[in-house]
Amino acid sequence: MNKPHVFVTRRMPAAGLDRVWEACEAEIWPGEMPPPYETLLEKVRGVDGLLCMLTDRIDGQLMDAAGPGLKVISQMAVGYDNIDVPAASARGIPIGHTPGVLTEATADLAFALLLAAARRLTEGVNYIQEGQWRTWDPTALLGRDLNGATLGIIGLGRIGRAVARRAAGFNMRILAYSPSLTPESAAEVNAQAVDLETLLRESDFVSVHAPLNSHTRHLMNASTLALMKPDGILINTGRGGLVDSSALVAALRSGVIGGAALDVTDPEPISLDDPLLTLPNALVVPHIGSASVWTRDQMAQMAAENLIAGVTGQPLPHRVPAG
Ligand code: DGY
Repeated sequence: MNKPHVFVTRRMPAAGLDRVWEACEAEIWPGEMPPPYETLLEKVRGVDGLLCMLTDRIDGQLMDAAGPGLKVISQMAVGYDNIDVPAASARGIPIGHTPGVLTEATADLAFALLLAAARRLTEGVNYIQEGQWRTWDPTALLGRDLNGATLGIIGLGRIGRAVARRAAGFNMRILAYSPSLTPESAAEVNAQAVDLETLLRESDFVSVHAPLNSHTRHLMNASTLALMKPDGILINTGRGGLVDSSALVAALRSGVIGGAALDVTDPEPISLDDPLLTLPNALVVPHIGSASVWTRDQMAQMAAENLIAGVTGQPLPHRVPAG
């Protein structure tokens, strides 16, 4: 029997790729960079399934280029703001993603950023490299305590809740905001449900975990940043588009907020001449929230399972709600 034809837009861990090879006739894009959009349009022609990454633009034109045989789009990520979900729904194409398995790794990274910003780790590394460490200094590199500080979590979903569990271990007060958050649900992770303005005004640290969509784009902008404390620290491990970068740079420069630690930027990758890379109170890492060996193996396996289910006419184990 002929195996289904699929295109995989990047090399991925063998834990997933081996399953794809077993079940499908697969072409894997060999480049380190994502396939350019025009190339992707050619590569998908006639495929039964597409396994893609968050760096690929998947729109209606691409779905039409694939043709009527396209049975599934499987993304190796939990977020899917790069995919036109209504366009896929209109064409009856299910979309798979990888929720759950990257929750803990991403929460770890959010907390690593929070600690690094609070205790000025990059400044400390630079201090040594610049030859400034001449003695133990009672007043140098003084940072912020987590103990007793308030953490505001915007988006108390899976990852937000995992961050709250970590914060409770550091004896932090936890405020949370999601549009439909109930006090009972927040209390399950020792958080207090509040409105966004209260969260921003009262938090020492604000960590953003909302999905990126038309309602949340630039959720953190000049007005919302201005509500934060002047020494408040913003952490973003969600999507770069949740924060208005120009407003953030202005807020960091003028002391409207104290610092920012970002795993995601807008655009990605960040330009090397972006001021966020030189401001002493900003810390940027390259979208590595889910980058642990175990997590990426799980994501690759889930993406493969969704792909194979789709091309064999089975329900996807992890399907994005139709848009
Ligand atoms: C996701 O899965 O959406 C993450 O951003 C990848 O790290």
